[in-house]
Amino acid sequence: MFCLGIESTAHTFGIGIVSDRGEILSNVSSIYKPPKGWGIKPTDAAQHHKKISQTLLKKSLKLAKKTLKDIELVAFSQGPGLPPCLHTGLNFAKQLKKPLIGVNHCIAHIEIAKLLTGAKDPITLYVSGANTQILGFTEGRYRCFGETMDIGAGNALDKFGREIGLSFPAGPKIERLAKKGKYTELPYVVKGMDLSFSGIVTAALNKFKKGTPIEDLCFSIQEIFFSMLTEVTERALAHTGKKEVLLTGGVAANKRLKEMLEIMCKERKAKFYTVPKEFAGDNGAMIAWTGTLAYKSGMKTKEEVLPRQRTDEVDVEWI
Ligand code: ATP
Ligand code: FE2
Repeated sequence: MFCLGIESTAHTFGIGIVSDRGEILSNVSSIYKPPKGWGIKPTDAAQHHKKISQTLLKKSLKLAKKTLKDIELVAFSQGPGLPPCLHTGLNFAKQLKKPLIGVNHCIAHIEIAKLLTGAKDPITLYVSGANTQILGFTEGRYRCFGETMDIGAGNALDKFGREIGLSFPAGPKIERLAKKGKYTELPYVVKGMDLSFSGIVTAALNKFKKGTPIEDLCFSIQEIFFSMLTEVTERALAHTGKKEVLLTGGVAANKRLKEMLEIMCKERKAKFYTVPKEFAGDNGAMIAWTGTLAYKSGMKTKEEVLPRQRTDEVDVEWI
């Protein structure tokens, strides 16, 4: 069986085709980029998705060496996400006139990561621009053990970067500058199992205005952010007794974050996995694969979008 998956929760419109044996036949996407200096306007992103959808459909089928006739199932990203973008994805999915299944975006990040790394029952650290969550499976659902109380770690790095003159995305540039920096004190904000990043950005910017070298600030913001992420991930491991950690999301590209998690995992005798870059960001293949798992387990979903859907609201019947 072949499933075509559509990702359209935010700026990325992606289409992926997978087989029910977990082969990824194609994975194509197009990212909406707002005009310089602007944030994302959801309706503009949705327009972009609509415009690009037919082109990407053709491209994905061609790469997969399939026609629409070969596709038995269409999976769409149901939420969480920006309503206009989600609606565009669902409308496009409906046009294909196949059985439809809705997929939770965050769970899709976990499932594609498990498929590609071989992790079986991990604690997943999902750190992207907009999201920062520590997730794990218990009693029928993926539970969120900890998450950001304000903005995602990636967006926090981007915000800090923008203010000190680095272009978007600032994450990789901060990583490079951090290599030449030394530690300067910044707040460390973990409350229970939750994290908060925006106050740390403000503190770093105050130090910037007072003349602290940007290399030192880049080094320190990384050390603080990643220590916080590692601490909460470690506690989720301890709490659940799980023995695997899976890192995904755009910030997973960062070597220092990987290094810290690797050290922690080694000390706890847990295995550490990172997702290949192509599948760590938003992509259609992750929706297709998770849709396949859900469909094969007999799950059914409504043809609706759920912009505020939470990870732990979804019954996971395929595990
Ligand atoms: P989502 O909707 O899943 O939250 P997103 O677009 O917000 O997606 P991703 O595309 O997964 O996020 O990741 C982009 C983020 O990753 C940006 O904030 C970027 O700065 C950050 N990033 C990319 N490379 C690095 C790096 N080497 N170090 C730190 N951060 C990085
Ligand atoms: Fe995502």
